[in-house]
Amino acid sequence: MLHVTITGMESLPLLKYLVEAGLGSRRQVVAAIKLGRVAVNGKQAESYTMPVYPQADRITFDGQPVSFHRQVKIVLMLNKPLGLLTTTSDDRGRKTVLDILPAEYRGLGLYPVGRLDHDTTGLLLLTNDGNLTYRLTHPRFELGKEYLVYTEGLLKPQEKESLEKGVLLDDGMTAPATIGEISYDPPYNYSITIHEGRTRQVRRMFAHLGYTVRSLKRVRMGNLRLVNLKEGSFRKLSAQEIASALREHKK
Ligand code: URA
Repeated sequence: MLHVTITGMESLPLLKYLVEAGLGSRRQVVAAIKLGRVAVNGKQAESYTMPVYPQADRITFDGQPVSFHRQVKIVLMLNKPLGLLTTTSDDRGRKTVLDILPAEYRGLGLYPVGRLDHDTTGLLLLTNDGNLTYRLTHPRFELGKEYLVYTEGLLKPQEKESLEKGVLLDDGMTAPATIGEISYDPPYNYSITIHEGRTRQVRRMFAHLGYTVRSLKRVRMGNLRLVNLKEGSFRKLSAQEIASALREHKK
């Protein structure tokens, strides 16, 4: 028995229903329908475009019910405070970013897109959309992630240049980055945009040159900026905002 959930009384073509329920590829599903293996309310399905109502119709494959649970896709932007883990659960009972969300967001399969350290704040996306996660995190898309940094001590011009060109860390050379100078004083003195997502990458890049990062905050992913969102709060992103984040991709 296959499982999927849907809300609302909407119809969708039989083919889409069966593909989303995980019965197989479009081609396989079309073939199964042609072979008469699919029935709707006890009657052999003749057309793969016929509309079906997931909550009302009984759909079977080789006589076995196909149950449908289409997860509503959600993307939340969170301003992560200090001290939360970027995971969905922790076996030591520590608080995770999901603990900030109200009850209505539980059980939707949300998880963080990429990670921020325990001691990093700022922009974190949570979603249940696997395709979107792939587009936002796979290195081939080179999405720019901008951070504000506070270090004790200021970079010499040649140090800034070497961070921008790439430095050799224990997991290899870093890709080109961009550094902006913001201020001499706290809370932040540099911005840095990187296009990779290695563990503690920004901290390790600065540490490579002998600088300790005292504060780190992510303020941008692609075209998505963290504006007007207080630490510890979140908001739902619109389809337009998501599309705009993806447009920054190079490939
Ligand atoms: N780089 C880091 O060092 N830490 C983060 O949380 C994100 C990027």
